[in-house]
Amino acid sequence: MIFRQLLEPVSSTYTYLLGCAETGQAVLIDPVVNAIGRDLRVLRELGLRLACTLDTHIHADHITSALELKKRTGSRIAAPAFDRLPCADVHVEEGRPLQVGSLHIAGLHTPGHTDGHFAFIVGERVFTGDALLIDGCGRTDFQNGNTEALYHSVTRKLFTLADETLVYPAHDYTGRHVSSIAQEKARNPRLGAGRTLDEFRAIMDALKLPYPKFIDYAVPGNRSCGACPTELPEELQKYCGQMAESPQG
Ligand SMILES: [Fe+2]
Repeated sequence: MIFRQLLEPVSSTYTYLLGCAETGQAVLIDPVVNAIGRDLRVLRELGLRLACTLDTHIHADHITSALELKKRTGSRIAAPAFDRLPCADVHVEEGRPLQVGSLHIAGLHTPGHTDGHFAFIVGERVFTGDALLIDGCGRTDFQNGNTEALYHSVTRKLFTLADETLVYPAHDYTGRHVSSIAQEKARNPRLGAGRTLDEFRAIMDALKLPYPKFIDYAVPGNRSCGACPTELPEELQKYCGQMAESPQG
């Protein structure tokens, strides 16, 4: 498999490019609208054709480029069936894997961060979205989030994958790239080392996180598969503008 991990720095989102070497088809997991130029360039450089985009959930901190990529490349939009997005072409369900060339993508319904959240297993990797982050997890206080549901998604689903499975999260805010199921099971300070549900609840309740600054624009934009609002306050325009690329990319 051809594989790239691509960082969008405004929301610290990781986009994953998966490519089938035999057919030249590619999938982008959680692509971000302001990084679309970079993603199209990487696809071009690798000689890949974008078959579909795949979002783990309705994001609150950035807007997906699924719709824009469909316009520009003809790619199909895949999203969790749970979210019933009329703009999606492929409605992903657990137990009904996607096949793109030689890529076998198995969805796992992992609610808790949002109710429709999915993780995706591809070979020895799991793309955990915001359900499981490196040494952390997504918040559970918006978008039908549910602390107990997230605890069970992680401990009963993700932590039952093979220990050596590589964990690729949707975000990292401190430059970490990859972990493993064994490492998170042993060391994740919120959910690892046998934390109980009550302990997890207490940790999440104590976070007292601020209101997400882009959520009121991102959620409706993502329910439309990636529509940028026509008017954005100046301090939020970076979420929809083009990402500056270094010459080396
Ligand atoms: Fe999220």
